Amino acid sequence: MKLLVIGGGGREHALAWRLAKSPRVQKVFVAPGNAGTAREDGLVNLAIEPLSDPEGLIAFVQHERIAFTVVGPEAPLAAGLVDRFLSQGLKIFGPTRAAAQLESSKDFAKQFMVRHGIPTAGFRTFNDPTAASAYAAEQASRAPGVPIVVKADGLAAGKGVVVAESLGEAQAAIAAMFSGEHLGGAGSRVVIEDFLAGEEASFIVLCDGKNAFALATSQDHKRLKDQDQGPNTGGMGAYSPAPVVTPEVSARVMREIIRPTLKAMASEGHPYVGFLYAGLMIDRSAAPRVVEFNCRLGDPETQPIMMRMRGDFTVLIEHAINGCLDQVEPLADTLWDRRPAVGVVLAAAGYPQAPCLGDAIAALPADQPDAHLFHAGTRQEGDRLVTSGGRVFCATALGETIKDAQANAYRLADQVRFAGCQYRTDIGHRGIALPS
Ligand code: AMP
Ligand code: GLY
Repeated sequence: MKLLVIGGGGREHALAWRLAKSPRVQKVFVAPGNAGTAREDGLVNLAIEPLSDPEGLIAFVQHERIAFTVVGPEAPLAAGLVDRFLSQGLKIFGPTRAAAQLESSKDFAKQFMVRHGIPTAGFRTFNDPTAASAYAAEQASRAPGVPIVVKADGLAAGKGVVVAESLGEAQAAIAAMFSGEHLGGAGSRVVIEDFLAGEEASFIVLCDGKNAFALATSQDHKRLKDQDQGPNTGGMGAYSPAPVVTPEVSARVMREIIRPTLKAMASEGHPYVGFLYAGLMIDRSAAPRVVEFNCRLGDPETQPIMMRMRGDFTVLIEHAINGCLDQVEPLADTLWDRRPAVGVVLAAAGYPQAPCLGDAIAALPADQPDAHLFHAGTRQEGDRLVTSGGRVFCATALGETIKDAQANAYRLADQVRFAGCQYRTDIGHRGIALPS
């Protein structure tokens, strides 16, 4: 079969790379892909921009008889790409535009969770900065006070959230979001949330409208600098599995969050088909709360998760598209390599605020077993490979323990050279501190 993956980041490189390993797959097209997918056996880049030319994409899919399409990023989902494919009778894995509001509007997601008793932080939504600032002041003055979390309502590529340690910081964040300077329209509505303490984890499931099937757990490192310092980013590295998600926590997440969400989305007329990513905060009593929903796989969580996948991913996705995920349980036992994986993001200078683009990439590691350098922001310019995005690579490796996987991932990362390359040196540290 021939498949199509939409997107061009590290997540899509890992996803397409794993799909291409299925014995059922002849070729995986990636639109638009990156310089990494262009170099990979079995993958072919397609110069069609999903956002500006959905009709071109549909014509291609019909002409090539693509068995199914998988959408990587949130933007095409929020723009209704899945709705267009479905109206043409084409098989595609991802939520409709209405269902994708779980990610595309934080206010929608929060109201939905409150309506259906899904555990999350308390919040208020504001359409003007004065009322938002007054509410922040009121929250700061009463227990538990700061931190206060300020979020842009719309899509902001992981950069629309400020965990403010003081009232001044919260008010500055509110002013900056409403000014539209950095986030455009995404910040014209702002959500102010209570701070949740605990340990974060990413819990990603495939959904078929009724049933959910959990992928291996993972944990992302959102802050730019070591020891979780510096600004939030799209993610500086990830590892899988996340020991904080014990089998008991996992059962609770399915029971208290995932299944009620699917049931409620269906009852509200938006059955949810696609990857659903619940960003969780797990408190000391092991109670999970939703920090955010994403309507897609995580980036960079996908890279270590795909590194560990052993089963045939095409079978899982087909079952999800066909509404019969309840029949794949037998696959679950053989699906994962028992070894953990760690992925370290190599970012461009200036990331996340103003990444420097177009730097020459001077050296890349040779292929090696149990490790893979996934590309994200890379582009081929003649015979030069150059950076073309804030996150440039994700060096990903397996190991007997998280510590071994970490050492292997850093060994791979050290072989990459480009000007201004920045990366954290402690990816996986929380997993190493906890017993696995
Ligand atoms: P989000 O884009 O909503 O996932 O937020 C980005 C990051 O901000 C999360 O991964 C958390 O680290 C942090 N964060 C967001 N909301 C909260 C909250 N209510 N309490 C504590 N931390 C939060
Ligand atoms: N790594 C966080 C995300 O994909 O949203």
